[in-house]
Amino acid sequence: MLEAANLRRQMVRQIPLDTIEFLESAGLVAANSGWRLYLVGGMVRDLFLNRKTVDLDLVVEGDAVNLAQRLAEITGGKVVIHSRFGTATLTWTDRRIDLATARAESYARPGALPIVKAGSLVDDLFRRDFTVNAMAVDLSPGHWGNLIDPYGGRFDLSRKLIRILHEKSFVDDATRVWRAIRYEQRLGFHIEDITLSLLKRDLPHLDSISGDRIRHEMELTLREEYPEKVLRRAAELGVLAKLHPDLKGNGWLKRKFEEARQLSVPGRPSVSLYLALLAYPLCAGDVEKLIAYLRLPRSLAHVLRNVAVLKGSLRALAQPRLHPSRVYLLLNQSSPPALAALSIATDSEVVRGHIRAYLERLRYVKPALTGDDLNKMGIASGPQIGEVLRRLLEAKLAGKAKSREEEERLVGRWSRRT
Ligand code: CTP
Repeated sequence: MLEAANLRRQMVRQIPLDTIEFLESAGLVAANSGWRLYLVGGMVRDLFLNRKTVDLDLVVEGDAVNLAQRLAEITGGKVVIHSRFGTATLTWTDRRIDLATARAESYARPGALPIVKAGSLVDDLFRRDFTVNAMAVDLSPGHWGNLIDPYGGRFDLSRKLIRILHEKSFVDDATRVWRAIRYEQRLGFHIEDITLSLLKRDLPHLDSISGDRIRHEMELTLREEYPEKVLRRAAELGVLAKLHPDLKGNGWLKRKFEEARQLSVPGRPSVSLYLALLAYPLCAGDVEKLIAYLRLPRSLAHVLRNVAVLKGSLRALAQPRLHPSRVYLLLNQSSPPALAALSIATDSEVVRGHIRAYLERLRYVKPALTGDDLNKMGIASGPQIGEVLRRLLEAKLAGKAKSREEEERLVGRWSRRT
């Protein structure tokens, strides 16, 4: 932990030099308009924890949109303005910086998006989720690096506590339930006692959060280094059951997530693979309910549906002496991520072997003859060509057509029969 309340040295040690230079010029540009600029949020927290953060969150007591536009001129970056909240996002090369006008927030009703009005930095910090996220670093020339910590964030960091700032925090924004669990598990902290009892009291407010926002929380959870820890705690607190009562954050899930990491290059499995494993215990009807509730995008929904269908083929796939053509037919309607999920979820080595054979070899098998070749051999254009190609593929997988000549002979025989 740091002793001094000026973090310049710590920042220079931990933040890349070009970012430091940017933060210095940004503070200066703001000051030229008579505004004060601050670094806030996760980066301040992670400075104390020696953790790397990429996202930069800045708050200005002034006009964030105007400041973002001027910084874009200096950096050659692009600005996207979110006028409803008086915020702007500045991007250049691989950089992303969020700028906000310091604001006070109120909520018309639980779960609603906030009503925003301009405020001071201290107001702005007060509307935030947890004390450890409610610290700021002054970027104004002459004060550069000074820590502003009105709610005891630094003390809570040293005690490893996740603490809300006021009693209505989870009512204002119930997604903070998920955020509290994520930080607790990511950082190896504890949710402070009163915060925990309010979290439990306010769980029903999660029901007023839209599926889109819950899906976002779930995506962030599945991007954590060890999502199973978050899911275990969410299950324990009755938060996971809000998505579907049959979802489990148990030892099985932990084992399967670990396997997914071992098999994934470079060690971070996709959200779709994790989600398919999480949803694995659900029957097809419940998978549909989950897809509808979370409004999953088509690609994710496709993987989950594939897995539900594949589960119906498990008994057939568990037979050791299954012919390759049968393996092909059982698996060829499913996407590779769904097959990867099934392969990890099943405990049958036989099933895994068939999936491996399909993914590594069978799915690439193609007849030597093409549609054009068949046309030249007198097969009429149209659906017949597709049908003959399908039969050729089956014959090839069954070992009955080992060369182009053998394929031609088969096609000849089939044509004579019709
Ligand atoms: N914040 C909040 N309530 C929310 C979401 C965000 O108070 N529901 C505030 C917190 O101060 C947070 C900041 O906005 O620090 C930025 O949010 P986000 O980027 O989601 O979090 P980070 O703190 O950057 O943390 P992470 O490392 O998880 O990205």
